Amino acid sequence: MGSSTPPVPVLSPPPSRLVIVGGQRLEGEVVIGGSKNAALAILAGALLASEGETTLTNLPRIGDIRTMVEVLGHFGVAARFSQGDTAAHLDATRLTSSEAPADLVARMRASFWALGPILARCGEAKIAQPGGCNIGARPIDLHLKGLQALGAEIETGFGYVRAHAPKEGLKGASVYLDFASVGATMNIMMAASLAHGTTVIENAAQEPDVEDLGNFLNAMGARISGHGTGVLTVQGVDSLHAADYAVISDRMEAGTYGLMAGITGGNVFLKGANAAHLRPVTLKMIEAGMQVEEREDGIRCTGPDGRPIPTRITALPHPGFPTDMQQAFTAYLATADGTSVVTDQVYESRFRYLTELGKMGVVSQVDSRTAVITGAARLTGADVDASDLRAGAALVVAGLAAQGQTRISHVEHLDRGYEALVEKLQKIGAQVWREDEHGRRQTSQRKAA
Ligand code: UD1
Repeated sequence: MGSSTPPVPVLSPPPSRLVIVGGQRLEGEVVIGGSKNAALAILAGALLASEGETTLTNLPRIGDIRTMVEVLGHFGVAARFSQGDTAAHLDATRLTSSEAPADLVARMRASFWALGPILARCGEAKIAQPGGCNIGARPIDLHLKGLQALGAEIETGFGYVRAHAPKEGLKGASVYLDFASVGATMNIMMAASLAHGTTVIENAAQEPDVEDLGNFLNAMGARISGHGTGVLTVQGVDSLHAADYAVISDRMEAGTYGLMAGITGGNVFLKGANAAHLRPVTLKMIEAGMQVEEREDGIRCTGPDGRPIPTRITALPHPGFPTDMQQAFTAYLATADGTSVVTDQVYESRFRYLTELGKMGVVSQVDSRTAVITGAARLTGADVDASDLRAGAALVVAGLAAQGQTRISHVEHLDRGYEALVEKLQKIGAQVWREDEHGRRQTSQRKAA
């Protein structure tokens, strides 16, 4: 089954730059795609189904999803896409390998989310240590601590993590996470769903993506409660089956477009955005001068009449302000009428993008986990580099408001998290396009939804 399926090709677009001519007021509607982080975890969760074909819908059309499906293919999962790549059909009935090679895992940290499910399904797993965005140390100790509590023997070395379950299988346990890690919560929850007995994860991550994974696992026959809260209980079951499931919408994509509307004094409806998931961000938008209208089918974001109002932001685990929105929000505050203070309590070095924003006239000072941003009346276009996904988002937000032309290199980082970025932006009135390494304008490959 798995071996007869042709591998799913990974999108590797040629190197290109994003060019933005700032100063256009954004107006209209953007359809928000599926959540990247929820989808990646749910794809890993699909490994747990020993029976049937899982169909996942509302997947975002981004390279990371292809990479994750390729990772699943290495384990023997038969996969195909449909509905313009927003749906995937996955058959994990017979796994043929318990290893994930370094070249794949290095491309994307979430490949490591396969450790828990593969260990639970196969009794052993060998997964390369993860890579991911360049935003400081990202250890995996909590993932390993949780799996060890379930009885796994773990060895690390030569760039790999090897995990073995005891002969009698994994056993439910009490796990306390020193930090509410999203990935560790997910990995432990997936492994525990096939363990004997009950697992309780305390100080579990409460992100909507964790909750969505829990809902998906329950649809597969798992018995999980408390997902989306700080105490999560998993009653292990003997086996899980395939399920059909629609992934939640991406709150980071929604928040980013909301801030793009804000910084250009525009008015954009984020169709399909989940108001409850985005509230830690929208409440701050309101504080910083924007108008936000929550509706059942989405959120309308309107920019302030004048400049944004300066504010304080502290990125924390959910329901705190999300660290993945810190960068785009900081770009918005860069044009505020006064000084803002932004602190990141999740990652220790997530302000490197400020060097690039500095080229556009953003005045900032960083001390450890805190940045002080002095609002400028005018930003100017410049040649800048997207060092990671969310850094890239900050540059786009700033570029949309800057005078003149901004050229962002390493746009492939943005493509990891924002589907059809150029097309969606053009649809709401931005002057934006891609150019190749020779400065030639590229035509759109994708349609905005
Ligand atoms: C996930 C998201 C990422 C987001 C992050 C925090 C995915 C694919 N990625 O990443 O976009 O920025 O949540 O919301 O879902 N930590 C440890 N030990 C561990 C694990 C984590 O100390 O074993 C620390 C990290 O160094 C970091 C903090 O915990 O400082 C948060 O990391 P974590 O929540 O695990 O992030 P990810 O799950 O990797």
